Amino acid sequence: ARFNIRLVVGSNRKDSINRKVGHALAALAREDFAFEELRIDDLPLYNQDLDTDTPPESVARLRAEVRAADGFLFVTPEYNRQPTPVLLNALHWASRPYGKNSWAGKPGAITGSSSSGVATGGAQSNLRNLLGVLDVRLIGQPEAYIQFTDDLVGADGAFADEKVRAFHAKKIRALEDWVALVSGAARAA
Ligand code: FNR
Repeated sequence: ARFNIRLVVGSNRKDSINRKVGHALAALAREDFAFEELRIDDLPLYNQDLDTDTPPESVARLRAEVRAADGFLFVTPEYNRQPTPVLLNALHWASRPYGKNSWAGKPGAITGSSSSGVATGGAQSNLRNLLGVLDVRLIGQPEAYIQFTDDLVGADGAFADEKVRAFHAKKIRALEDWVALVSGAARAA
């Protein structure tokens, strides 16, 4: 694959619906784009005392992986209309040290899933705001607030319904095109 997109699932739960949805989205990728999940569940809780020249190994790994990525697909659960602690924790860790924000300038997209009618609308709105501060360059459309049902993702890990697949493929295409454009410009510079 020519482009390395990191899937950032904001859940540390074994049976996460957002992980299922994230991998179903990744399965829609074109050949040139590899979607690999970014590990965020083993980071310590952010503490400025730990944020020294020799940070914990998991933090050093996170920062290196974020810097090496060509782009991101964030799939956030919703806790009380907010992104989850495990996702916020990873965002803050890789935003430091001051002046060396690993997220800066990277292209990305956001989505999220819950079984309720709000379907992560509140969480995504707040996440979009935070990612703006971190200088992640998000595509605005298409938006996707994914209401989870047990039949959404089949046993094969793909979206079961053809129309649902086609809808999400448009978003993945938009992200891929944006990542290729930004990465192409960066590689040429
Ligand atoms: C939730 N949940 C939830 N759902 C929602 O649609 N809107 C919300 O504001 C909340 N708030 C909330 C708070 C807390 C503390 C918990 C633990 C849960 C339910 C949530 O969508 C559900 O647990 C999902 O399964 C979480 O996503 P993962 O971990 O399965 O990907």
